[in-house]
Amino acid sequence: MTIYNILTLPNKILREKSEPVKNISEEIIEILNNMAETMYDAPGIGLAAVQVGIKKRLVVMDCSKEEDKKVLIKFINPEIISKSNEKSIYEEGCLSIPDFSEDVERFSTCVVQYMDLNGKKQILECEGLMATCIQHEIDHLNGKLFIDHISRLKREKITRKFIKLSKQKLTK
Ligand code: NI
Repeated sequence: MTIYNILTLPNKILREKSEPVKNISEEIIEILNNMAETMYDAPGIGLAAVQVGIKKRLVVMDCSKEEDKKVLIKFINPEIISKSNEKSIYEEGCLSIPDFSEDVERFSTCVVQYMDLNGKKQILECEGLMATCIQHEIDHLNGKLFIDHISRLKREKITRKFIKLSKQKLTK
């Protein structure tokens, strides 16, 4: 297994749209396994393929709280097919925007349709942290980041900080 390098702000790939997966090849399965490894290593509760530079509609997620009860879900081409009118607020973070978190309002519950590793269509009802997490990850597949949901002032501030950091890294 491979632990991928996670791209961070302001990498432009994070703003690109990911392509649907047509065939579940060995390669796709391997990417998903490596993504899970990368997510647990980080550690994080969700990871989209584009965050490791692979522009395919793939997401791994594990919102379980207890270390010994892992609930890993591998999503191929996930999409939200329905959502609640109700909204809820969670303090979100992102592996591509390290050491930053902010409250984000999203739909409280949603229903996600995706393909499993056998190419079978699956329907998953999400609530709580899982609902927030899958909306965050599907945003990634569309080139969107959680900072797009916060105030412009805060977004510009954090973006500037990361641009500065990336320039410092380049000059080192
Ligand atoms: Ni993220």
